[in-house]
Amino acid sequence: MTMTDPNAEFWDKQSSAFTAHDGQRRSYHAEFAAVLNRRLTGDVLCVGGLYQNADPNRVPPFSVVDVSEHMLQVWASRGARVQVGDARRLPIADASVDHVVFPLVLHHITDGRAAASRANVTACFREAHRVLRPGGTVWAIEILVSGPVYAVELALAPVTRAALATRRIPLVVFHSRHFYLSQLEVAGFAGASLEFSDADDGRWYDLVKPVVGLDLRVPKVMVPVKYGLLRGVKPA
Ligand SMILES: C[S@@+](CC[C@H](N)C(=O)[O-])C[C@H]1O[C@@H](n2cnc3c(N)ncnc32)[C@H](O)[C@@H]1O
Repeated sequence: MTMTDPNAEFWDKQSSAFTAHDGQRRSYHAEFAAVLNRRLTGDVLCVGGLYQNADPNRVPPFSVVDVSEHMLQVWASRGARVQVGDARRLPIADASVDHVVFPLVLHHITDGRAAASRANVTACFREAHRVLRPGGTVWAIEILVSGPVYAVELALAPVTRAALATRRIPLVVFHSRHFYLSQLEVAGFAGASLEFSDADDGRWYDLVKPVVGLDLRVPKVMVPVKYGLLRGVKPA
């Protein structure tokens, strides 16, 4: 394990809480899993763990790459073949899988800075492109914000980072729809698309947890996010 990687250390510590709360399962998890369980055929690589509601008896099993050895134990207990590794430098051969899935991980790979978090998304998509066979598909389940909210979020990232650091939580950055779709194209994917979920729209005053690891619930109106399933195809 890379004990010097604060992200890996954070997730090692989160693994038991994550299992106990089952990833704070929400309705959009089931909605996107229904799409993925239908569409994922052949060799599937999930980066940053399995998606919630992934079939534990799938043949061939899902392959999972994750920075956290403790989280890998969770994925192994759900039937996956697991390997420690970073989404930006996948320990996977070129053109060897049919699908790559990033389930709720890209917003966590920030290196504590807004600019680095954007460069990391591009690096992750480039790695997905490298390991996919021609005609293969990349998928990402993500939390997205509107353009104006994104601009404010990026500007305030140093403040957010400092606040989260007081609780030993690494910075998270929720990107915009435009940014994700543009970076899929930059990485070489065709037909980039995004499907939003309306499953968790709820009422403005419903209490939600804004950040994993923070023991805080706030009214939904204070967390203006949407949940989406991104997709891009590596040209054949
Ligand atoms: C929010 S959890 C998502 C877990 C699961 N995929 C889900 O949908 O519920 C983020 C996961 O990504 C992993 N992770 C964080 N940074 C990573 C990186 N740079 N490369 C690979 N995995 C990473 C964490 O260890 C953790 O398992």
